[in-house]
Amino acid sequence: MENNKDILILAIESSCDETAASVVKNGRTILSNIISSQIDLHKLYGGVVPEIASRKHIEKINQVIEEAMETAGVTLDDLDAIGVTYGPGLVGALLVGVAEAKAISFAKNLPLVGVHHIEGHISANYIENPDLEPPFLCLVVSGGHTHLVIVKDYGEFEILGRTRDDAAGEAFDKVARAIGLGYPGGPKIDKLSKEGNPYAIDFPKAKVDEAPYDFSFSGVKSAVLNHLNKCRMQGIPIQEADIAASFQRCVVEVLTEHAIAAAKDYHINKLAIAGGVASNSTLRGAMEKACRENHIEFYHPSPIFCTDNAAMIGVAAYYEYLKGTRHGLDLNAVPNLKLGER
Ligand code: KG4
Ligand code: ZN
Repeated sequence: MENNKDILILAIESSCDETAASVVKNGRTILSNIISSQIDLHKLYGGVVPEIASRKHIEKINQVIEEAMETAGVTLDDLDAIGVTYGPGLVGALLVGVAEAKAISFAKNLPLVGVHHIEGHISANYIENPDLEPPFLCLVVSGGHTHLVIVKDYGEFEILGRTRDDAAGEAFDKVARAIGLGYPGGPKIDKLSKEGNPYAIDFPKAKVDEAPYDFSFSGVKSAVLNHLNKCRMQGIPIQEADIAASFQRCVVEVLTEHAIAAAKDYHINKLAIAGGVASNSTLRGAMEKACRENHIEFYHPSPIFCTDNAAMIGVAAYYEYLKGTRHGLDLNAVPNLKLGER
């Protein structure tokens, strides 16, 4: 019967330095999740070079999509829709995915569903938590974003707090660079911190006046840089592991305290985390503990679904598809797309 037919979505993600494609069945079953990372290329420059990212996406995208289709064991004729990230992100990088999605949509006469990248990150939580449904609170911590949001319904968000300056992942990357760990810094700080004392240095935990759920990470970043300068000027040996662990404790405490406070204030007993920084082992541990102590159910995606991937875009696209979201062939990349905009 037509009503019982599975819904298959091919999703494409190219907003930053990962070219990714995935086939998702009925919103929560991942049939394939192919990610081609450009990290090794950008490492040479200490960060993502937008022009190189766009060129590499063009080179890789067809291959990545073919592999996603093959792994899933489906053809373009089996698909019900194409989902694609159209913002926020690097405009040249986004355009590659958007153009590809439009071409397939046009050639196969398939509905096109543009997806907000952050909605994708949040939706990653649905993959391995079949019982998770809105409403819940979600802390989104990635390289470009730090948001505390109430997921009121699928695709409906109320933003309680956001960063005033650097994103959490950006702070990790900048601090890692300062202590000579290279790009991307988050995983390296995560690893090195295990050898350091998180209480060695007391870095400042910023609070934003009259905005209890907002974040600010530029202060802690500057404090790390000042500490390094002081050590160098005074000839004191630099203890990289202690600095990494102390910085990480500071960021993790702020993220956890804000998220738990919001959950209590809004009487929400489900808390999820999302985005690249959500794969941080100390953050996961701290959130798990704080949630347990406060009788809050804690949800988190596996690390592979935390960092950029297309499976999460396919999940978000499915719920948008059900709600009737359709984009035309005039869909454009929107580098500063706001969460909740369509
Ligand atoms: O979500 P994502 O892959 O891309 C964006 O949408 O920005 O996040 C990438 C960010 C980078 O800043 C990276 O350093 C950080 O996530 N990250 C981590 C960890 N793994 C990735 N930060 C802390 N600990 C980690 N284990
Ligand atoms: Zn991302």
